[in-house]
Parts: sequence; structure tokens; C-alpha cells
Amino acid sequence: MNLLLKNLIACSCFFLISQTLALEFDVNTDQIIEANKNSNEWLTHGRTYSEQRYSSLNQINSDNIKNLNIEWFYDLDSSRGHEATPLVIDGIMFTTGAWSVVYANNAVTGELLWKYDPKVPREKAYYLCCDAVNRGVAAWQGKVFVGTLDGRLIALDAKDGSVVWETMTVDSFEAYSITGAPRVIKGKVIIGNGGAEFGVRGYVSAYDVNNGNMLWRFFTVPGNPENGFENAAMEMAAETWKGSEWWKFGGGGTVWDSMAYDPDLDILYIGTGNGSPWNYKVRSPGGGDNLFLSSIVALKPDTGDYVWHYQTTPGDNWDYTATQHIILADLEIDGKIRKVLMQAPKNGFFYVLDRTNGELLSAENYVKVTWASGIDKETGRPIKTNLGNYEKNAVLLFPGALGGHNWMPMSFNPDTGLVYIPAQELYMPFKKDENYNYDKKGWNTAVDFTVITPPKNLLQLSLLVRSVRGRLSAWDPVEQKEVWKQYLTLPWNGGILSTSGNLVFQGTSDGELVAYDASTGEQKWSKNLQTGIVAAPITYSINGKQYVTVVAGYGGVFALQAGLPPKYSGGPINARIVTFSLDGDIQLPQRPANINMPKPPPPNEDQASIARGEVLYHLECHVCHGAGAMGGGVISDLRYMTKETHEKFEAITLGGLYIEKGMVGFARRLNEQNAEDIHAYLIQRANETYFLETLNSALK
Ligand code: HEC
Repeated sequence: MNLLLKNLIACSCFFLISQTLALEFDVNTDQIIEANKNSNEWLTHGRTYSEQRYSSLNQINSDNIKNLNIEWFYDLDSSRGHEATPLVIDGIMFTTGAWSVVYANNAVTGELLWKYDPKVPREKAYYLCCDAVNRGVAAWQGKVFVGTLDGRLIALDAKDGSVVWETMTVDSFEAYSITGAPRVIKGKVIIGNGGAEFGVRGYVSAYDVNNGNMLWRFFTVPGNPENGFENAAMEMAAETWKGSEWWKFGGGGTVWDSMAYDPDLDILYIGTGNGSPWNYKVRSPGGGDNLFLSSIVALKPDTGDYVWHYQTTPGDNWDYTATQHIILADLEIDGKIRKVLMQAPKNGFFYVLDRTNGELLSAENYVKVTWASGIDKETGRPIKTNLGNYEKNAVLLFPGALGGHNWMPMSFNPDTGLVYIPAQELYMPFKKDENYNYDKKGWNTAVDFTVITPPKNLLQLSLLVRSVRGRLSAWDPVEQKEVWKQYLTLPWNGGILSTSGNLVFQGTSDGELVAYDASTGEQKWSKNLQTGIVAAPITYSINGKQYVTVVAGYGGVFALQAGLPPKYSGGPINARIVTFSLDGDIQLPQRPANINMPKPPPPNEDQASIARGEVLYHLECHVCHGAGAMGGGVISDLRYMTKETHEKFEAITLGGLYIEKGMVGFARRLNEQNAEDIHAYLIQRANETYFLETLNSALK
């Protein structure tokens, strides 16, 4: 090769690199409104304001996908839940990890440009239903916005991650938390919050991008009538709550995740959460729909004024949030183009609404549903059965409280006309908590969690595990029917990306990133990423090269409470950002082998103590350490405690010795005898597991 040509290549390479590394950063409204025309970047949470999570990039397609391999990876420093969708703007990837930490990486090389840790106090972990997660940032004209677990909204300088402004969006004395990604509309940062399990009153607020001043707030459920109502919408909502003191429980209806925006109609759509407490009879003893729980609410983004609402689960009794992903699209229905809004909330039905006025166009169940036999097309209301009534007897409910579909984003692909739903077949026994008292310092469900203790008998346990599974469902929203499906071994799989390369990408809870043919569902490619995946992948293109990225990390409520298959047991696994391309050639380093189980102390003779411990464990500990004391690879598995940990058990459990790690002390709820009983139960579980593991290795 002659020198001139070499120089020319070197020179243009340098040009390309410097272009990639350029830190210019200017996302403006027009660009986000036109985001569907700019597939090279990923400007807002759902890629576009319509939140379709579809990309017209097709360099990677169903013909060449077999060549897709890892281009770079970046190790994050926590094993707690990772649910973020990264943004990619001007060659920079902005994403979040556990504890609301923000990362900016070079999107071509993976190199870390900056990292910002809001230093959320770890004791906050106790007031979170669903792990120390965050779903991502928003960006606007040189700034990046993150909502933190402890309720702050923070604007960072995109260049170096320094704080531009910071504002507290919640009353810190209440158990509010933020896990959702903000959205920015016309210079306003929109953010909601969570905490319904701990008895808060839900709302969504807008802040000025320039200085963090609050511009408006819309409450989703009414407060104490004695204090007057904030607006006519709250007055209307209050009519649907009954009893003498329903506002004392907080009400719930938190806006903890989904939003979408239609710039033509100038309407913001929010999804609202479950009731607080879950148990409807306790919350609103005289009946009523309890507006705006489990609803889609349309608001004016300039003022927060109410436009319309549609309630998916009137009188919610089962944690059936409607905070699930909202997608806007224009669909041809009965020969007419309709502006629709689509959602598959936890309650098991797939809804298509007219987004101009909230009218129900159609709804069908996408998984097995027992609490209702269908949705009445005339009234738009569910036809409730008695199978969801747990007032007198425990019931086995489909879907369970984790939903037929949870927060994991769907994707609408205009090429196939299909919505890809990361659904799950997961039920749950519901039993009334006979001893319920409102407790501002604890969970407020008025549902008895001790009934979800898994069986100890191994055969029954394996039958239980086999009776639940994940289901990637390709759904035709016009016909309201499933076109293809893929069953997945376990529930709680990742969010979806679809592309015009005729591909659908999804990560699984057993650690694979998988690509399917978007039209037929045929599996085209997969890669093991060594940890469960719950976040949704994204795609982008820089200098003519297409990339696919996923934040690979397990976690979230199911991972904490229900654990993972044995292949990941034994120790928490840190998350990673993993980016793929057609000419990537990177291998992931080997994970350390599963931890060898330490020999547990001899079992306690006192069966009564073990039995009490089992109940207490499922009241206080299982929400983080797993039902049946089986860990999910996110937080330590308590059957695997070392000799030293056993010795420190009381200091950790009651005294808060590990508060810095996110393990609060329970002295205010438990006494020494309680701790001893829980310890006895854990030692019993450890011995059962140790016996099986020794048997297993002896048979090998
Ligand atoms: C809000 C979540 C949460 C709850 C509820 C919780 N823990 Fe923890 N626990 C943690 C975290 C986080 C850690 C530290 C990180 C890790 O070990 O992975 C931890 C660690 C521990 C450890 C140390 C384990 C080891 O091997 O180092 C013990 C013991 C423990 N917890 C006992 C309990 C008991 C007993 C309960 C119920 C009374 C309980 N925890 C409830 C989150 C929780």
C-alpha cells in the first residue's frame, strides 16, 4: 500500500475517532419529536415519544444475525437489580445502574467517560418493594436527568456528570422512591414515584429543565377531604372511595414507570399503580372504583390538567398496576386509521384505546385470567368473577401480583404490525391478612404473604417451578390475538427491542440474549451473558456501523423473592453493559465457579422455634432474601452463610452491622427470640441444602 493511501486512511480514521469522541451535546425538542427519523441515536426512554422501541436500522438483520458478537463490555459495580434502557446521543451512552448511579460511556469503545453516584443512603433499601433499581435517564440540551431512589431529581452536565441542580420531589418522611426514567417534554422534566406498598399517595410532577423549579403536580388519588381537593379531577375521584378514613392508608396509585407523549394532540399519558393497601375491602370498605388507581390518565403537559382516564382494574384488589409500558401508534381498525394507545397491564388483558378520548376499542386476555371473564365492550369495564375474592378463603389467582406482564418494556413493530409482549405465566395465592394494622414503617398490603412459602418437598418444589414460565408473545393488536409465541423456562424475562432487520431481541432470566425472526418467531441467534437479563436492549449506529446493547444484570422483585435456577446460586453476580456488532470478537471472562457451600452448624432441635422462624422469615426477610430462603443471585443466599456470618447473625439482623451494604437492622420490629427463631429456620434450610449438594457431588 503506498504511503499516501496509508496516510489517507490513518487520517480519515483519526477523523472518525475524533468525531466519535466529540462531546458536543444538544438534544432539543424537535429532535425528540422527530426521533423516528433518527434511528442512529436513542434519544428518549422508549426511543420515541410514542415509546414504540422499534428501530429502522437493518444492517443487522435476520440473514446475518449469526455473525453478531460482543464488541465491548463494561463491568458495573453492583449485583442489585439492573433495569435501565441506555440513551445514545452524540456517540455517548448514558445509562444507570443500581442505587441510581449514572454512567456515561463512549458508545463505540465502552470507555467510561464519567460516573455520578448520588449516594443514596443504603437504609432506603428497606422502603423499596422491588430492589434498588433505576430504569434510566432523560436528556435535554446538554443535561442528563436522573430520579434517585430517595426521591431526588438531579440534573447533570452531560459533559462531565457534575450536578447542575438537584431538587427533592417527595416528602422524605414518607416511603416514596423513584425507579422510573424521567421524560422531558417542551423543557419540562416529568417524573413520578413509587411506594404504594408502604402507604404513599401517588402523583406525577413537572420541573423546569433549567433550574429544577416545580411547575405542576397531579395527584392520582384523593387526599383527606378536610384539606380540600386540589382540582375537579380529585373531587370526582373522591366520590369513588368509600369508608370513614380511606385517605389514611395513602391510597397508592403511584406513577412509577410508564409515560408516553403525543406531540400532535399535545397529551401526556401516564400509567398509575395499585391500591394501598392491596386489600380493597380494607382500603375502601364501602366499595367504589377508587379512581385513579390502575388507570391510564391523559394530562396536559404544560399544566398537568386532567384530560381523560381509563381504569383497567376498578376496585383493584390484587396489586394490578397499570404502570406497564404504554405504546402509541396509528392503526387501521375497521377501515379507519385510529390514533391508539396500547397497554398490557398486570391484570392480564391487552387494551387498545382511542388516545384522543380514552374510549375502549378492544381488550382481550394475553395470558390466563381468573379474576375477570372479559372486558365489557359497551361499558369498558371488566366482568369480575368470584375467583379473585379472597375475603373469606385463600384463592389461587391468575395472573399473580407480579402480573401477566410487569414493567419490562414491549415493542411495536410497524413492519409486522405486531406488539411483542414479554409476558409471563405466573400465578399467586392470595389470602387476607387477618392481623393487618396500618404500619407506616412496613409493608401495607393486608394480604398474608406467609402462604407463598414454597414446599420443602423437592418433587413438589420442582413441579411448582415447572408450573410457571415466561412467554414472549407476538400480539396482533387489531385482531387482538397471538400470532406466535416462545415459551421461556422461567418468568421475569427482559424487555423487548424490535428492528426493521426483521428481528426481535429479548434477554432471559436464565442469562441468554436471544434474537427471533419478527414475523415467524423462529429463534435466529443467542448469546449467554452469564447473568439473568431483565432490561430491554437498544440499537444505534455510529459511523455507519450498527450496534445492539443490553444492560445485563438480574434483579427486581421476582429475582429477590423467588430466586433463580441452581446454576446461578451461591453468590451475587455483578451486572455489565454489553454491546454487540457484526464484527465484534470479544469473549466474556469466565465467571468464578459457584461458591462451595460452607458446612452449616448442626440443626436446632427445637422444632417449634424453626416453625416460628419460618413464619417470621416470610414476613420480614423473604422480600429480599427469597421465599424458602433460596437466593436469586442478587443478594446473599442465607443458606450459604459462613461460620463468621453465623456468629454475627444477631448483630447483622438486629443491630444493622451491614447497613452500608443495604441490610437494615430489624431491632425495631424483631426481638432476640425472633432473630434466634429465624436463625434456627435458616440453619435448618442450610442443612437440607447441604445434604443435597453433598449427595450431588458424591454421585458425580
Ligand atoms: C430490604 C432488603 C432486605 C431485607 C428485607 C432483609 N435483608 Fe438481609 N441483606 C440485605 C442486603 C442488601 C444484604 C447485604 C448484601 C448481600 O449480602 O448481598 C443482606 C445481608 C444479610 C446477611 C448477611 C449475609 C452474608 O452471607 O453475608 C444476613 C445474615 C441477613 N441479611 C439476614 C436477614 C434477615 C434475618 C432478614 C429478615 C429479618 C433480612 N436479612 C431481611 C437485604 C435485606
